[in-house]
Amino acid sequence: MARANSDNCSNLGQSPAAVATAAGDLRVTNLTKRFGATLALDGASLRASRGEVHALLGENGAGKSTLIRVLSGIIKADAGEIKFDGENLKTRSAVGHHIVRSVFQELSLISDLTVGENILFDQLPIGPDRRVRFSRVYKRSLELMESLGARVINPRLRVKDLSLSDRQLVEILKGLAIDAPILILDEPTSSLGPSDAAWALAQVRE
Ligand SMILES: Nc1ncnc2c1ncn2[C@@H]1O[C@H](COP(=O)(O)OP(=O)(O)OP(=O)(O)O)[C@@H](O)[C@H]1O
Ligand SMILES: [Mg+2]
Repeated sequence: MARANSDNCSNLGQSPAAVATAAGDLRVTNLTKRFGATLALDGASLRASRGEVHALLGENGAGKSTLIRVLSGIIKADAGEIKFDGENLKTRSAVGHHIVRSVFQELSLISDLTVGENILFDQLPIGPDRRVRFSRVYKRSLELMESLGARVINPRLRVKDLSLSDRQLVEILKGLAIDAPILILDEPTSSLGPSDAAWALAQVRE
């Protein structure tokens, strides 16, 4: 992605990826990432301020997912800078501090775990005996689906038994389960039905 400055885009229904900022200022400057002979990011820059939604548009292989993986701390850029509210953002710790939440194009769910465990994966309620409190996992994930107005999926089901569209919905719910200042979605609606897709895009605008 060469000089991938983002533009505001009101029609997210046509966007392959989106960056939404609920608080603070995100400044991404001149990110470069090379995979062998492939220059996936060539000086990619992006600015997003509180309350803004930006769409990342680009053809297949343009570098959208690479940019999102760098912002999410999954891979490191070869060069460039990421600042949040003026502070240099070490992406791994940013994810740890829940500054960036991402919904990935290739789903990040663990198929042998239940819907509820996946949604609350990085905030599982643990009891004094160090065991997961499953009744709280299921209760909290149901409350989350209801409070967000999502189609309810039984939180006790294993992800491997879900349809692809239900898995994608769970992936989005996992992204929304922590109220992070920056939410990034990579083609979040590609396998959703029309009403789930409308719901997902409404979450981005909120
Ligand atoms: N782990 C990797 N190893 C090698 N090459 C990679 C890797 N990840 C991405 N690439 C390459 O980097 C380039 C950018 O890929 P990326 O997945 O970021 O594009 P994209 O804009 O998300 O495309 P799409 O619209 O198909 O999802 C492509 O040429 C891709 O083949
Ligand atoms: Mg992609």
